[in-house]
Amino acid sequence: MYSKEQEQKLIHDSQELLKQLKHAQNFLLHSENETEQLRKIIRYHEWKYYVQSEIAITDFEFDQLYDLLKRTEAEHHDWITSDSPTQRVAKGLTKEFPEVQHLVPMLSLDNSYDAEDLNDWDERVKKLIEDSNVEYCVEPKFDGAGISLVYENNQFMRGATRGDGSVGEEITTNCKQLRSIPLSADFKKYGIHKIEIRGEVLINKNSFQKINEKRIKDGLPPFGNPRNAASGGLRIKDSSEVGKRGMEAFLYHISVAEDESGNDLLASGGIKSHSHAIETLDSLGFKSPRKEFFIAKNIADVIDYCHQFEKRRENLPYEIDGLVIKVDKLELQKKCGYTSHHPRWAIAYKFAAKQATTELLKVEYQVGRTGAITPVAKLEPIALAGVTVSSVSMFNEEFIREKDIRVHDKVLVERAGEVIPYIVMPIVEARTGAEEKIIFPTHCPVCDSKLFKPETEANWRCINYNCPAQVSERIIHYVSKDAMDIAGLGEKIVEEFVAQNFIHTIPDIYNLNFEAIGKLEGWKEKSINNLKAAIEKSKTQSLPRLLFGLGIRFVGETTAKKLAQQVNDISEFQNFSVEQLQAIEDVGPKVAVSIHDFFHDENNLKIISQLKESGVNTQHTKTESAMDGKLFGKTFLFTGTMNMKRSDAEEMVETNGGNILGSVTSKLNYLVVGEDAGSKLAKAQKLGTVNIIREADFLKMIE
Ligand code: IVH
Repeated sequence: MYSKEQEQKLIHDSQELLKQLKHAQNFLLHSENETEQLRKIIRYHEWKYYVQSEIAITDFEFDQLYDLLKRTEAEHHDWITSDSPTQRVAKGLTKEFPEVQHLVPMLSLDNSYDAEDLNDWDERVKKLIEDSNVEYCVEPKFDGAGISLVYENNQFMRGATRGDGSVGEEITTNCKQLRSIPLSADFKKYGIHKIEIRGEVLINKNSFQKINEKRIKDGLPPFGNPRNAASGGLRIKDSSEVGKRGMEAFLYHISVAEDESGNDLLASGGIKSHSHAIETLDSLGFKSPRKEFFIAKNIADVIDYCHQFEKRRENLPYEIDGLVIKVDKLELQKKCGYTSHHPRWAIAYKFAAKQATTELLKVEYQVGRTGAITPVAKLEPIALAGVTVSSVSMFNEEFIREKDIRVHDKVLVERAGEVIPYIVMPIVEARTGAEEKIIFPTHCPVCDSKLFKPETEANWRCINYNCPAQVSERIIHYVSKDAMDIAGLGEKIVEEFVAQNFIHTIPDIYNLNFEAIGKLEGWKEKSINNLKAAIEKSKTQSLPRLLFGLGIRFVGETTAKKLAQQVNDISEFQNFSVEQLQAIEDVGPKVAVSIHDFFHDENNLKIISQLKESGVNTQHTKTESAMDGKLFGKTFLFTGTMNMKRSDAEEMVETNGGNILGSVTSKLNYLVVGEDAGSKLAKAQKLGTVNIIREADFLKMIE
């Protein structure tokens, strides 16, 4: 797409503009030509980030350039082009997506599950093409939502969902929100005037997890899998929300390609093969399967590759549910032809099932530390993609109602990648009449106080602050590894201490009656000393850990870190207004209100002062120590299996003044590799600018 020299020039030009912006924040471009040049720069950065998953400038710098373009275009409306990066703007609410006829039907794929199926298919292909020599392409079967994109005259004209295969929904504006979809591309270079491209919109595992964490925080049921989140994401009525789901589009098929006179370039040899089509798309700036693409000389190589790939599946950043094998040469594809359902020249190779049915035995209700009641389905244990599942969350009453799940139902359970297992649906056909409706409790299963459900929330809540379940959960959270890390206070022990009335509130941890504990079964001098030492050690934990450990609603680890940076001591939060809190990165209106309320609640203030009295650190000293930290100004990334926990290693970097990056880019100084390091290592080696070190070397650096 871009040569090294072109990239260097674009980055250089970006830096020049940024320099000018530094001197004069409000400066504007003065000519149409310069404006078009800036569009090229922005398009390049969009491609670098959203298609190549690398960065050449920071988000902040990108925003500055984008803003410059926007301001310039606002002064000179006649300079705006329809493919300007600013034209990705959302268009408010869509009432309904109009129906569109696909230029060519979007067919499905035939499936295969093992070597035998693939060999059979290979035989069939050879018969159809009347030749025993045939090359195959193998690429991921992306598990997302199908899309079709039409470009004419180099401009993006129309985006559509798959729909029923012949008629889909027009989602052009929503497609424009995905920055991996170029608004224009130089198809003319290949003599193409009109083209229809097929592909799949996905949400990578990382973004998916973040979206679900946020949904859970907001009291919404999480998406069951990235596919649902993507297919729903494409059809969001409020287009300004579409860009927030981290969706990306992979394009893997050219279904129509015509020159200016309407000649079919797929038939005339303008595009000769599937691999040629993929290369073309890649070179025009589309995200394609090129990185995971394999050309096989025969079916034995295909089978080998499929077996190897299945093992790598979990390492990919996005979900795939198999591989697709395609006859490479278009001429041969034509000879194979189509059934009404699928092409005969392609077949999907599906990986082992991640879904299975089992019986829902009963429902239990858990009380969280904020009092939220979560229904949990207890299942007849079942093996799913290598793990036994016997219990899955049903999130809230709405989830159960919507799916009409009943006790003793046979339910379809899915576990995809790192996604938590969940119930897809009950198998209604298997009902015998013995199934029982699930009746949600009206009173807390632990303290029996009446449950409440705030109108804006999805969960029923026990609002008794002293409910033993909540007390236990609060303490369990406070002592957990990512919070104050008090080893020796495991879940069972906390529950016992709460039941024995040794602990009511968090500060009670620091005033335990060890004499009484010694009388409990299983406690010896040694275990008591260990516990004392662990509690003592927790007094020196950092402020972010304390803030996270206090269990302020909506405050996760990242927000806790951002909060801590604002103060020298925790007590300062009492003076923050909601507006001031909201000005902090990562803190939205809801979070701000929650933090504000927390620090204006007498109970909480008492807890904080008691913790202080017990000698728990409430101060933030990071910035000073970080400035002269051993790793100040250096960036790190960890990959592969290490002896240390990844989060511990990252914390060491941060407390020593370094920063963690999310991916291998030219900004990365050190890649710390553990066992089985994969693509990150390869990428760092290719870049050549990253110091690649082992865990032991890293530890030496901070010794
Ligand atoms: S080729 C005529 N390639 O899987 C072209 N499809 O289960 C047929 N899919 O409808 C499609 N990854 O939405 C093709 N690399 C890939 C794919 C892929 C995912 C989807 C596609 C198709 C569905 C069939």
